[in-house]
Amino acid sequence: MDESAQFLQSVEDFILRRSWSATRFGREIAGDPQFVFDLREGRAPRADTRQRIVEAMNNVPERQEQPPLRIGVAGLGTVGAALVAMLDEGSGDLTRKHGRTLQVTSVAARSRSRDRGIDISGYEWHDDPVALARADNVDLFVELIGGEDGPALAAVRAALDAGKPVVTANKALLAKHGVELARRAEETGAYIGFEAAVAGGIPVIKTLREGLGAATVERVYGIMNGTCNYILTRMGKEDISFADCLKDAQALGYAEADPTFDIEGFDTAHKLAILSCLCFEYEIAADDIFVEGITAITQADIKVAADLGYKIKLLGIARRSGDGVEQRIHPTLVPKSSAIAMVDNVLNAVVLETDHVSELVLAGPGAGGSATAASVLADILDIARGHNVPPLGVPTAELLPFRKAPIRSHEGGYYIRLSVRDVPGALASITTRLGECSISLESVIQRPDLVAEADVTNGEKTRTVVLITDETLEASVREALSRVADDGFTSGSPQVIRIETF
Ligand SMILES: NC(=O)c1ccc[n+]([C@@H]2O[C@H](COP(=O)([O-])OP(=O)(O)OC[C@H]3O[C@@H](n4cnc5c(N)ncnc54)[C@H](OP(=O)(O)O)[C@@H]3O)[C@@H](O)[C@H]2O)c1
Repeated sequence: MDESAQFLQSVEDFILRRSWSATRFGREIAGDPQFVFDLREGRAPRADTRQRIVEAMNNVPERQEQPPLRIGVAGLGTVGAALVAMLDEGSGDLTRKHGRTLQVTSVAARSRSRDRGIDISGYEWHDDPVALARADNVDLFVELIGGEDGPALAAVRAALDAGKPVVTANKALLAKHGVELARRAEETGAYIGFEAAVAGGIPVIKTLREGLGAATVERVYGIMNGTCNYILTRMGKEDISFADCLKDAQALGYAEADPTFDIEGFDTAHKLAILSCLCFEYEIAADDIFVEGITAITQADIKVAADLGYKIKLLGIARRSGDGVEQRIHPTLVPKSSAIAMVDNVLNAVVLETDHVSELVLAGPGAGGSATAASVLADILDIARGHNVPPLGVPTAELLPFRKAPIRSHEGGYYIRLSVRDVPGALASITTRLGECSISLESVIQRPDLVAEADVTNGEKTRTVVLITDETLEASVREALSRVADDGFTSGSPQVIRIETF
């Protein structure tokens, strides 16, 4: 081997032993990022340059090998199987980039024989996720079982009590037990990563916990349920009822066989409760959220909203108010030109308004095996690098007891759809009642082509009337509508949709 070939070999050995890239070698040792590529193509350096590089190589200490990070994965369903596949396929590249080998050692699920499209024969099998969390060959426990209690909770507690870091995608678990689990983590110095628990593939937790660490969040809102967004988007594009759209969503796999959790807004509530805690430093309070789902939205609402320049979206909104924290989930009229209105189909988005950044919009896939597993993997990589921050952004002792701002004190514009009896004086009486409660109207819309379900009650002729209010108090709207109902000029329940401006 001639001198040049020997030199090239010593450079390649150096790179391999330290898992460096050729570019890094070029920059840090040779002072030219292209150096190794030129060398590989036979362009040998001058003798003095070669001498300088050999000396520089000799001065770099041998790499201190970090032991592999041994990972136990409990739950091998949509997300768990995608994660294991990702770790299998990308392991070499991840080690090179992050300097530590990630190695799945053990797995747990209910059925050992189920075909999951991944080979689990090389992993230790556990029937019991708690035993997996405690196993000696597991340094990091990943919980992808789901459920707010049961085996997921028991296993996460077991891992944290043993001082092991945990990564989970389980919003239900965190919404109910997040503060307790964060406290356990603090006691044993463990870490909890839960990037995947809110808005699946969107890195909103890290953005809040670290990227916006210096900012004060004033309001957070978002579309955090793909099922609802799909249904509302489709209703906006086609003349299709909520019920028919839901059936299609189920057939396409966008909605569960029992869709209650999604369409009634509870899934969004879990995510909002977690975000709200990170934004406002109050304890997680998933039960103190005003929740209204999308089941009552009709084509009449969608069409009138569109005429007025709005789309209807199911939003989760939280903001600090004088009375505490306002947390609400409900269908919302949003201006068509707003960023959130443009997030359609199954996509999710979270918007953060802070003192320094007026509006930060994060949009992307909120669910799906690989998008969610990518967020789980991002947490795993943080742990592999030794990253540790308080799971809820601040130490749990700093969290304030939750103070709920009542929905009645919410102020905003309102869309009110009424079925009004076709008799003289009906509309005048309604507007008088609103006036008595200090509600002024921005517009009154009557479209004879729109027939709401209530229009056919008792066979009596009614008109669909939509009122758009100026900014007003929710308590006033409720009082006015109660007086309107008592007057007997309307039939059925009024449809009330809050309007949000951004
Ligand atoms: N899917 C998504 O797009 C998505 C997005 C964001 C967050 N998440 C969250 O990620 C978590 C997992 O969701 P997923 O959709 O992957 O659920 P999934 O497909 O239903 O998978 C659940 C897994 O847990 C296993 N499991 C259930 N009970 C168990 C027990 N007692 N012991 C051991 N294993 C048990 C199941 O085993 P078998 O396979 O043997 O039945 C299955 O492998 C949930 O917290 C979910 O909210 C999911």
